[in-house]
Amino acid sequence: MRRKVTKAIFPVAGLGTRFLPATKSIPKEIMTLVDRPLIQYAIDEARAAGIKEFIFVTAKGKGALEDYFDGAPELEKTLRKKGKTELLKELRATDMDSGAIAYIRQREALGLGHAVWCARRLISNEPFAVLLPDDVISSTTPCLKQMIEQYTETGGNMVAAMEVKPEEVSSYGILSVTETNGRLLSVDDMAEKPALEDAPSRCAAIGRYILEPSIMNRLRDLKQGNGNEIQLTDAIAQEARDGGKVYGYTFEGQRYDCGSKAGYLKATVAFALKRDDLKADLAEFIKQTAAKL
Ligand code: G1P
Repeated sequence: MRRKVTKAIFPVAGLGTRFLPATKSIPKEIMTLVDRPLIQYAIDEARAAGIKEFIFVTAKGKGALEDYFDGAPELEKTLRKKGKTELLKELRATDMDSGAIAYIRQREALGLGHAVWCARRLISNEPFAVLLPDDVISSTTPCLKQMIEQYTETGGNMVAAMEVKPEEVSSYGILSVTETNGRLLSVDDMAEKPALEDAPSRCAAIGRYILEPSIMNRLRDLKQGNGNEIQLTDAIAQEARDGGKVYGYTFEGQRYDCGSKAGYLKATVAFALKRDDLKADLAEFIKQTAAKL
């Protein structure tokens, strides 16, 4: 029997330099799309995929992120008194059970692979998911759920995959694809942020992974890679080159790169336009503003 994926790692130790000065005092994962922090979208997606244990790899200055998941009895009391039942319901939907979240500190910014490795003791000998909250995916079935359904059939290691423009290739982990079967891609190698001329394809890894526990051992032994950082991509690539099962999964959905200003703004507009309370007003504003450009 294949083991169920019930643990997920959320690497949230990054400095968020692209959003300075805002991120001087707010963790970037707390920045909102409309009225929900980025991290909430990742948590909701993980929950919908059956994740029960949420492991945050944090760093100095991320206190607001930990506070966000605390209970808010005072606030709830006030809302109850004022009869704001709808708001209360929304607030409750973000509640996390006591003990469901663990926080691990990454002492030094040594890269994504190192951040994931910091959670090794909590992962132990189980398959696990990794979600990068910068990548927000809007889809009919949540992206990680799509992947877990596929994983239940195939097992192995799986990364969310998407074709990117040639000029974007050097910003992503890129897959070397040997076979395509519907949404499932067989992968025999990966390269972290290669130059376009060295890239094995234009098929990029997006921030959703399902990984076998053996990846942790590979991370332990890895040398620094691209950008002098320990790269998750390098551990998965090693696994693939040694004949381990590595797949890409071309998910259904629209992905927003909320690690970039343009991506974050696009996501803000797209999510606001999906809201009944904002749609008409905002659409009209966009039309009028665009007409003046
Ligand atoms: C990370 C990974 C990269 C992946 C990307 C997806 O890069 O290292 O392989 O393609 O996330 O968003 P980052 O964007 O953190 O530099």
